[in-house]
Amino acid sequence: MIKAVRGTRDLLPPETALWNFVEAAVRDVFRAYNFQEIRTPIFEATELFARGVGEETDIVSKEMYTWDDPPGRFREYVERYRELITALQEGRQLSGGPVPLENLAGQQSLTLRPENTAGVVRAYIQHKLWDRGLNKLYYIGPQFRRERPQKGRYRQFYQIGAEVIGPASAGSESPARDAEVLEMLATLLDRLGIANWNLELNSVGCPSDRVKFNEALRNALEPVKEKMCADCQRRAVTNPLRVFDCKVPEDQPIIEKLPRISQFLDEGCRTHFEAVQAILAKVGVRFSLNDRLVRGLDYYTRTAFEFTHGALGAQNAILGGGRYDGLSEALGGPAAPGIGFAIGEDRLVMSLQEKASAESVLRKPDVYVAPMAGMNGEAARLARELRRNDLVIELGDDSFRLKKSFEAATKAGAKYILIVGENEVKADSFALKNLATGEQVSVPRAELAQRIQG
Ligand code: HAM
Repeated sequence: MIKAVRGTRDLLPPETALWNFVEAAVRDVFRAYNFQEIRTPIFEATELFARGVGEETDIVSKEMYTWDDPPGRFREYVERYRELITALQEGRQLSGGPVPLENLAGQQSLTLRPENTAGVVRAYIQHKLWDRGLNKLYYIGPQFRRERPQKGRYRQFYQIGAEVIGPASAGSESPARDAEVLEMLATLLDRLGIANWNLELNSVGCPSDRVKFNEALRNALEPVKEKMCADCQRRAVTNPLRVFDCKVPEDQPIIEKLPRISQFLDEGCRTHFEAVQAILAKVGVRFSLNDRLVRGLDYYTRTAFEFTHGALGAQNAILGGGRYDGLSEALGGPAAPGIGFAIGEDRLVMSLQEKASAESVLRKPDVYVAPMAGMNGEAARLARELRRNDLVIELGDDSFRLKKSFEAATKAGAKYILIVGENEVKADSFALKNLATGEQVSVPRAELAQRIQG
């Protein structure tokens, strides 16, 4: 038997009803805040993530699904040159020529998107979205990371995310945007009935703060890095901030003693962060400060945040996000400060399941239409009329005996069964039976929809 690949899964009914319920609710909330939907490709040039998310991050250095397209040519090229060099070194006669460079033309490295912010910012630049006044965008879709699968962590997972991005003249740098995004998230979680979330908030400062912070980290790590894991030893040199992503238990006491970013914020970053907090207090969104929260992606500046939820276990971050004021420039675009977030939809649905079963949001058939022998056409006509009235109809088959139709109607969870026989069609009035109460009445065709809705 061929099974779904490790870390991927099939989402089946009735659980998919819960996913649809969540997506409908978030689309409503996004509409209220004037966000519009964007759909970017599921794969992009690898360079987008290397430059956007950062080479040293776990996501880019370990977790991406990357391939050469078309495949193999680069390897063919390298191997041929290796052969030629060996032949040269051994003083052998060179046979055949090098692989023509043109073979490499058009080849590129592609990657399944591990996240969607870089793609949105690429689209923002490519389509000059600032000219169209499009500065609030949301997306819902799959992302891919080669992580060790466990509860709440998958290799194909789904994100619901949003980005506010635009020229500073449009106010995109304002702390009001940060607070609005956070308030929207609180509203969203409350509306979905997810209680007990905790908003953890930090400021990771601007690039100049980061230079000073990295310097301090390098100094602090210098005498202790030998005792740390291989990843941290490398990070201590290349990108010390990423040491905070380390999950190795033995390294934690060392990391705990490292300097904190909050000590390195310049005046502008500090006042920006205070303004965000002041608005949140004003609108009544509770939060806690966590100056260890630096997030695992390199593009963040200033505000960084995560919402956690107790019921989720080890993978308790239900969503994460922050500001990325330099990302557009890093990708070759104009200055365009931005802030956004992504919700882990798998985790969101999981925390909903703690209280609401998928069954409770699933819409079951209103009517099971049961055709008697030779009545498939008449039954289809009737089903078509009822569906036009926004009723959910399960249509049976005229080969079924009445007993089998009743069993099928019960299995489908239908409220009513509607019998379509020759006599009913002649009288243009149909036997409608309530499957819960057993009550049966004959209802004229014209009154059926209203009767069922009532
Ligand atoms: P992130 O923290 O990498 O941020 O991912 C956001 C959320 O996606 C996480 O909090 C988690 O709920 C979910 N998630 C991540 N990896 C997995 C996984 N392997 N399985 C299940 N769920 C997962 C970002 O992706 C940023 N692009 C967010 C952002 C948008 N920042 C600014 N704008």
